[in-house]
Amino acid sequence: MKVELKIWRYDASTGDRALRPYEVDVSDEATLLDTLDAVKDKVDGTLAYRKSCRMMICGSCGMRVDGGAVLACKARIADIVADGHIPVISAMGNLPIVKDLVVDMDPFWQKMRAVQPFLEPRLDRATEKENVVSQERMDVIHKESLCINCGCCVSECNSMESDPDFLGPAALAKGFRFVGDARDGATIERLERYSEEHGIWDCTRCYFCNERCPKGVDPRDAIAKLGAESVKEGIDRDMGAKHAKWFVKSAETTGWLRETELVPKTQGIVAAVKQTKFALGLAKHGKVPTPIPPHVAADVGEARALHELVREQGREGALGIVQGERALARIEHTDAGGARRDTPEITPGEEPPSAEG
Ligand code: SF4
Ligand code: SF4
Ligand code: FES
Repeated sequence: MKVELKIWRYDASTGDRALRPYEVDVSDEATLLDTLDAVKDKVDGTLAYRKSCRMMICGSCGMRVDGGAVLACKARIADIVADGHIPVISAMGNLPIVKDLVVDMDPFWQKMRAVQPFLEPRLDRATEKENVVSQERMDVIHKESLCINCGCCVSECNSMESDPDFLGPAALAKGFRFVGDARDGATIERLERYSEEHGIWDCTRCYFCNERCPKGVDPRDAIAKLGAESVKEGIDRDMGAKHAKWFVKSAETTGWLRETELVPKTQGIVAAVKQTKFALGLAKHGKVPTPIPPHVAADVGEARALHELVREQGREGALGIVQGERALARIEHTDAGGARRDTPEITPGEEPPSAEG
């Protein structure tokens, strides 16, 4: 199969940058990485890119195809060039380029180190015997444990683009891998640390990290679990946490998100007064419903019942999200387009991620 592609070449030592076209013959089964190997072997030996395992496990070969990060050894070239498309291959985003498709991973590892990516054992519960943790308990952090540190999520993170100090999706997913580990004894310290500026509440929820992660880690969901755990533990100083709490409260009481009350309820009266001019401008254009009396949804009973159920069953914090993920995973789609639930129900409240085991 003849393949045409364009590659952004760059050399940080000289500043030379150019988009170069290439054409090579590869097999129909070839991956993007195989194609780059063919370019390097047969056309231009100076092309630089990283690789090692060739089987989606070492995390070395992250790069962009048409502006979106992929693992080169996972992406089939036939899919990329379908219908005569000529792809543009470039280095990952949000990391400095060293040469061609090779980025400097130092900023990635600095963030990773900042979340203390190692177990802080619960020495208060040390025994003479092995500390066995059930499979159920480990399943809570199964997705986050799949991370191969490839950086594809970081490449597409728009929060990190505007704030390079943001901890970012990979490091925060690693953070939940330890917050959710029943053997870890530093849960509160971790949640305090991750809730600071540049932490979990600075995520814009764009979901690009979930979309781009080649291993199904879903880093945005891990950040949501950290947020839920923080609020559950009363670590809610950040405005993001206050907003989340107010939205839960307003949904419970009226079935609606009462955004007009958001500023006074979360930032205080002084901040609300400062925003009066802006609010009046919105009101003039009919964008602000009167807060009194609050508009109550016709089926508000359902929202209240759901809230009560979550409280009764102890599904607050990360556990509710983990159980939601499992419930979705249990839904198997049938040929007829319907859904079938054929695995056992999860027992509510049995496996809190940070509870004592
Ligand atoms: S969802 Fe948050 S962490 Fe993920 S890419 Fe968007 S801003 Fe970054
Ligand atoms: S979370 Fe996914 S995309 Fe991000 S570094 Fe880990 S494996 Fe790669
Ligand atoms: S070469 Fe190891 S993940 Fe692609």
